[in-house]
Amino acid sequence: MSPFRLTRTLPEDTTGAALRADVREGLTGSPKSLPPKWFYDARGSELFEEITALPEYYPTRAERDILRARAGEIAGASGARTLVELGSGSSEKTRYLIDALTELRAYVPVDVSESALAQAGQALAAERPGLDVHALIADFTALLTLPATPGPRLVAFLGGTIGNLLPAERASFLTSVRALLAPGDALLLGTDLVKDERVLVRAYDDAAGVTAAFDKNVLAVVNRELGADFDPDAFDHVAVWDAGHEWIEMRLRSRTAQTVKIPALGLAVDFAAGEDLRTEVSAKFRQDGVRRELSSAGLELTRWWTDEEQRFALSLSTAR
Ligand SMILES: C[S@@+](CC[C@H](N)C(=O)[O-])C[C@H]1O[C@@H](n2cnc3c(N)ncnc32)[C@H](O)[C@@H]1O
Repeated sequence: MSPFRLTRTLPEDTTGAALRADVREGLTGSPKSLPPKWFYDARGSELFEEITALPEYYPTRAERDILRARAGEIAGASGARTLVELGSGSSEKTRYLIDALTELRAYVPVDVSESALAQAGQALAAERPGLDVHALIADFTALLTLPATPGPRLVAFLGGTIGNLLPAERASFLTSVRALLAPGDALLLGTDLVKDERVLVRAYDDAAGVTAAFDKNVLAVVNRELGADFDPDAFDHVAVWDAGHEWIEMRLRSRTAQTVKIPALGLAVDFAAGEDLRTEVSAKFRQDGVRRELSSAGLELTRWWTDEEQRFALSLSTAR
């Protein structure tokens, strides 16, 4: 068994204060919205794992196909001794990289979900003797302080999670990732690609209703943490393709006119019948746009791989 450490970089109270600030801002703004990071308590992380196995949810399978085919090339180009993974979740696909990186000494998964980190990190430490697993409970949009581990580093950001950031958030996120890269380090980025609207909408509104349960889980988090009285049955899950922005929006649509109380914030929030609360944006990309966004952050795209059906892309980039 390898060493396994779990470090919280934000004090518990900071997390609570961040939730309060996000809920206040999101529910008093117009249109109403909540940031997607609050989906991921233990139940939300479990539901996300269920989503990845749904027939309609192609991104996980497409990205896994690329990793299976290209892990050797990625490892050859990177030669990393430390793999940092942002938003690592179950670290399931990451195993292809860990197996291919023959010089790997340390794995640093970073996630807001303590349960996902503990489960994945302990399993990996048990499976991979000699691999130092140092998990960080942290918000990847905040400034990250990484543990001192041997270089070169490969920073992986998989799952298309970058699409959950709005364009201005992506720009500042990529700039802070760029600041983590020393010469010889690289970023491996997973981006979901623009495709037929029907395929996209189905991926975010599955027949079995797992994505709907995941979407409504954010209401359960706000109820539990802030004493709110959201009734999840009083909202419908909807997925909408925004062709102008080329992103999917997940929303919770109020079935009736209703008022939700949030005692921890001293707030009463009115919803009109049919009013939407935006819970997630999932941007879809094209190669030119990815190259441009990386370049604006001081990164140069050096490799681009897609699955056979060109549904998803992995790109490798280095600091310019
Ligand atoms: C879409 S899931 C992808 C999980 C995994 N990388 C995959 O490809 O299957 C997003 C992951 O990022 C984490 N996450 C979301 N927002 C985050 C944030 N701001 N900081 C750190 N982790 C975050 C979630 O807990 C979740 O594990």
